[in-house]
Amino acid sequence: MSSKDTEHRFSIRGGNPLSGTVRISGAKNAVLPAMAASLLTQEDCLLENVPRIADIEIMADVLRALGASVEWRGHSSLWLNAANVRTVVAPSELVVRNRASFLVMGPLLGRFGEAASCPPGGDVIGQRPIDVHLAGFRALGADLSRREDKYWAQAKELHGARIFMDYPSNMGTENLLMAAVLARGRTVIKNAAAEPEVCCLAALLNDMGARITGAGTNTIEVEGVPALHGASHTLIPDRIEAGTFALAAAITGGDVTVEAVNSDHLDSLLWKLVEAGVEVTPGDGTLRVRAAGPLSATNVQALPYPGFATDLQSAMGTLLTQARGVSVLYERVYDNRLLYVSELRKLGAEIVVAGQTAIISGPTALVGTGVRALDIRSGAALVLAGLAASGTTEVADVWHLERGYEHIETKLHKLGAHIRRIGGGKE
Ligand code: EPU
Repeated sequence: MSSKDTEHRFSIRGGNPLSGTVRISGAKNAVLPAMAASLLTQEDCLLENVPRIADIEIMADVLRALGASVEWRGHSSLWLNAANVRTVVAPSELVVRNRASFLVMGPLLGRFGEAASCPPGGDVIGQRPIDVHLAGFRALGADLSRREDKYWAQAKELHGARIFMDYPSNMGTENLLMAAVLARGRTVIKNAAAEPEVCCLAALLNDMGARITGAGTNTIEVEGVPALHGASHTLIPDRIEAGTFALAAAITGGDVTVEAVNSDHLDSLLWKLVEAGVEVTPGDGTLRVRAAGPLSATNVQALPYPGFATDLQSAMGTLLTQARGVSVLYERVYDNRLLYVSELRKLGAEIVVAGQTAIISGPTALVGTGVRALDIRSGAALVLAGLAASGTTEVADVWHLERGYEHIETKLHKLGAHIRRIGGGKE
């Protein structure tokens, strides 16, 4: 990232109801593990519906540093081949740049019996330990040690095991699945994450010859196989991007049809939108969201799937500033994901934070001013606030958003938003 990129800001003139259709990209958090899964075979893998966002490029560079080949084929197809992996040590300078890089540990350990990585970086949203990943690798027969900045996992042969995850971690489940697919015998993972992204990875691994059942429930079983082969796989739509546009429609009093979406993945959000007084109409791969009148306060708890997605908590909190009454928002996944509230307050939001709970009084008239994106999702929330505010809002550090949202300003612009990029030499 150049210093110019860090200088980019979005200038948003709010007050315009969004209308029209928007097409959702492939899911960032499904693509990242799928890319790591390509390390499990010498054969070609082709991933379809891959968004062009910064986190994908970081993962591609991690895989290249290990010796794999990664190339774009067309706008959203990514070809990967890991026949010539030359090291099992993930490059620290890249791993510290996002959390998902740690997903190379499971497949490297599974295929080569050895893997090393420093603790991963990622957004500042609370404690993000990796103890669940490490405990699972140990249960599968790996020795774990810490050398310099890295965790090393080594095993002569991985064997199936019964694993209970202390927390249903997404990436933890994904890493363990990728380690277990080539282990000898049967692995049972209890208290597994049930997120659609985990199901998407299991489906890809099964396409590659793995034998996984139960993905999408909290008990996943894996019957180890001797080798995996290449596969071609289409990734699921990004439910967080879809939810963000649904909330953008609602907060601007708009009428937006979200296309290429799987509404089943958004039940917890749609339930809350209806409770708040928004009209939602799921169709075949589409979702129409229409503001039907004034919004009402509601309570929300961010929980593991199928609970309300923590990645939509900040955007939902922003919507609730426009709802009549007092809403209570509990963040139960991360211990520090309400930092964006102090930015929202600069626009006039009335929110009290106590621990991991935000008490939001509304509706408040938001007034544009300068704010800063702190991570991907707080950035999206601030863009939504800017769309609802009177006057002009400038959101700084938009590179955070670009890690997770493909062409967000173009997509919003098409829906009628007054948003433009400034700074970074492009003003
Ligand atoms: N946790 C542990 N031990 C572990 C791992 C996690 O206690 O070993 C705890 C964390 O401290 C946290 C909770 O589990 O409180 C949730 O973490 P999880 O491991 O499920 O998150 P993750 O797999 O690291 C993925 C997404 C996040 C998303 C979370 C929760 C990817 C690459 N990232 O992270 O996405 O917030 O699941 O749904 O899949 C984002 O896209 O903006 C983002 C942060």
